[in-house]
This record gives sequence, structure tokens and C-alpha cells, in this order.
Amino acid sequence: MTRHFLFVGACVCVMLTADRPVSAQQGGRGTQMPADHMDHRFDNPEQSAKGFDDPARDAWQMPDRVIEALGLRPGQAVADIGAGTGYFTIRLARSAAAPTVYAVDLEEAMVKYVRDRAAKEGLKNVVAVQAAADRTNLPAAVDVVLMVDTYHHIPNRVTYFRELRKSMKPSARLAIIDFRKGVPGGPPDHFRFTAEQITAELTKAGFTASAQHDFLPRQLFLIFQ
Ligand SMILES: C[S@@+](CC[C@H](N)C(=O)[O-])C[C@H]1O[C@@H](n2cnc3c(N)ncnc32)[C@H](O)[C@@H]1O
Repeated sequence: MTRHFLFVGACVCVMLTADRPVSAQQGGRGTQMPADHMDHRFDNPEQSAKGFDDPARDAWQMPDRVIEALGLRPGQAVADIGAGTGYFTIRLARSAAAPTVYAVDLEEAMVKYVRDRAAKEGLKNVVAVQAAADRTNLPAAVDVVLMVDTYHHIPNRVTYFRELRKSMKPSARLAIIDFRKGVPGGPPDHFRFTAEQITAELTKAGFTASAQHDFLPRQLFLIFQ
């Protein structure tokens, strides 16, 4: 069964992309079970960019404040997983620490888009990486992983994040930003998690919660080590 979800306001998750949730997971014996993640194609970057890179987003996404909170230092490497059209990738690459930024995405079209965007902007510290659904394919270990509005798209999260730890340096941090329940924009409620739910999953994957920032009006911002 194909489901069409109605999104309210500036939905960063699927906004302005063709609304094509792929499926809900099939449960056993032909029953329909709600999926644990939101299956959705992002194969039209130009269309997605109208929403993802809408200047109006800055007011609630607060990218500069988010990047400051990550505390990056010169020489460090950061992975922007589910980089999309590069909203955070480009800002990270231009930030004072000028880290190496791995822009990781599952969609080939997004990977090409962000690679071309970085090249056009003369950013030599961006490396676009083609991910698989179950792994990032990061070419080197990183100091920080940033995942914005992508956590709810990841299937089998405990296994996924356990695997991700292999691409993180021992002292590396993982920052998860995803939509709170009951705020404008974002995925259907079923794919919005509480801080406790995310922490429980990531604890099972071997992470420890180390901080929570509360300044984003629409999203949780959680840090793990
Ligand atoms: C809602 S968009 C967010 C884009 C970007 N982080 C932003 O805030 O503008 C989610 C992105 O995650 C990507 N994605 C979904 N599943 C993924 C996976 N398993 N690994 C890497 N990227 C994934 C999608 O292709 C899409 O570009």
C-alpha cells in the first residue's frame, strides 16, 4: 500500500520533493505493520533544494549556532550523514575550523548535487560520499558525525549505529538533530521520536548520551559519545 502523508508547513523532511514514501513495512502473515523508519526517495535535488535551502529555514534551523555547538577544531573531520543538498555541509566547510567535511548520502543524485555545489563554491574540503542504506562508506574515521533530519529515515538503527562507530575516532561525538513531536514541518508523528527513544536506541548501539541542546525550536539536538 502506498501512503500519502499530509505535511504541514515547511516540511524539511519531504518538503517540495515529490511526495513518494516508498512503503510501510510488511508485517508477518500479510499484516501491515508501521515501519520503524520513514522510507522516502530524495532523487530530485533541484526540487528538494527549494525547501532545504530556503533562506527562511535559517530562522528556526539556526545553522551557525548548531555549528558553534559542535565545537570543531582545525584539522578535524566531520561527517554530515544524510547531507541532502548540502545545507549543513557547505556551512561546515566554510566555518572557522574549516574541517574536512564528508557529505554522505544514499541518493546518487544528492551526492552528485553536493559534489557539484562544493566545487562551484570552490570548497576543496568537501568530499561527497555515496552511502549504502546500511552503512556510510566513510573513507576515514571522523571526529564528529552530524545527522540532521535523517535519523528517522534509517532502518535497523541499532545495527546501523553500531557499524557507524567503526568510522568514528575513539573520542568522536555524534550529533542527532531531528523533529520533535507537535511542531510545524517534519515527518508524520509516527516518525518523530523522543529524546528517551533515541537515547535508548543509541545506548544499545554502544553510545553514551553526553549533552542536549534546547535552543532549536522545532528539533531535538542530542550529543552522544
Ligand atoms: C530530510 S533530508 C535532510 C537533508 C539535510 N540533512 C538537511 O538538513 O537539509 C534526508 C536525507 O537523508 C538521506 N538519507 C536517507 N537515508 C539515508 C541513509 N541510510 N544513509 C545516508 N543518507 C540517507 C536522503 O537521501 C536525504 O538526502
